[in-house]
Amino acid sequence: MEVMRRRIIFLGLSGGALPIFGGIVLSTERLNRIIEIDERNLQATVEPGVINQIFRDAVEEKGLFYPPDPASRGSCFLGGNLAENAGGPKAVKYGTTKDYVLNCEVVLPTGEIIWTGANVLKNSTGYNLTQLIVGSEGTLGIITKIVFRLIPLPTQNLLMLVPFFSPEKACEAVSAVFRAGFTPSAMEFMERDAIDFVLKFVDVKLAVKDEHKAHLLIEVDGHDLDALFKDCEKITEIMYEFECDEVLFADTAQQKNDLWRMRRAVGEAVKSHSIYKEEDTVVPRAELPVLLRGVKEIGAKYGFKSVCYGHAGDGNLHVNIIKDTMSDSDWENKVPLGIREIFELCVKLKGTISGEHGIGFVQKSYMDIPFDASTLALQKGIKSLFDPKGVLNPGKMFE
Ligand code: LAC
Ligand code: ZN
Repeated sequence: MEVMRRRIIFLGLSGGALPIFGGIVLSTERLNRIIEIDERNLQATVEPGVINQIFRDAVEEKGLFYPPDPASRGSCFLGGNLAENAGGPKAVKYGTTKDYVLNCEVVLPTGEIIWTGANVLKNSTGYNLTQLIVGSEGTLGIITKIVFRLIPLPTQNLLMLVPFFSPEKACEAVSAVFRAGFTPSAMEFMERDAIDFVLKFVDVKLAVKDEHKAHLLIEVDGHDLDALFKDCEKITEIMYEFECDEVLFADTAQQKNDLWRMRRAVGEAVKSHSIYKEEDTVVPRAELPVLLRGVKEIGAKYGFKSVCYGHAGDGNLHVNIIKDTMSDSDWENKVPLGIREIFELCVKLKGTISGEHGIGFVQKSYMDIPFDASTLALQKGIKSLFDPKGVLNPGKMFE
């Protein structure tokens, strides 16, 4: 547990919590109370050090649902989820952390304690300070209480794994499902290398043929099992239009659990294999095939290999660039040029450079790609308004 905690505090997915200038690292791990689950209003008030999974289990016991479910949900804190506006597989149907935060208590760097909004589902009162704090990566204030909205827990779900002969076809199939009128509760993409790495990393058995080059993991949820079966049949028909192999249905809770364990472990599996850089690209969903092709072409140009996977239904592709046998000098000098080109492609496709991992320390030198000078100046102006002395999480988000 101690090791887990250190990783949570010091790593994250964008180096957001690294004390790069020394100073004090503030841990909220003892602010770990679920203060109230308000069943009358479908809301909950929590402290920031509550682990995501502990919270979702607590509300589930009351028939309620807190959808944001990052891969690290067994260890990540809700406060960190807010700070980074975390997503996860369910975001495609239910939205990300930002869609569940109604109000938060924040200690400002100047010492005042404020509430950012109100415990209401609608709020047109002034600037939206709540949403300004969500995703602010610890640079504007310290979140000490959060009020979430909750929704009723869907009681049924079905899960299927679809193998494709071409990764691009798999990506093309994604937007066709939504165009046909379905909104799955998860629509995850894994290219072949992601599957190969993860099957060495977790004890899940899966028959993968040589010609399977990518998989989509698709979940539908709701209350009416017959209706869900019908949706799956229609989604399967769409899949076959994109030249997939036989669709695998998870029949048992164990099979569902195994497939999800596999998907959630991809990031850790790639990390355990090689030094890597994790990019969190996001584009409008239908542009996903163009992004994937571009990532591979840019990789070939700069001599790096990437393992791609992620939340295809959101157009959110995690691009893990692996060092493998690359020389240190190519890794230091060439790869950042390639990353810049990948990010430029995202912006050209009307996307941006992080969908759910944040900017933190590792992506800050790329902020000139999604933002022009005036927009960057506005962002920096907000930072100085909240934190005139620059004491909170210095050296993050901006150069
Ligand atoms: C995932 C994390 C890395 O999707 O965002 O697995
Ligand atoms: Zn993710």
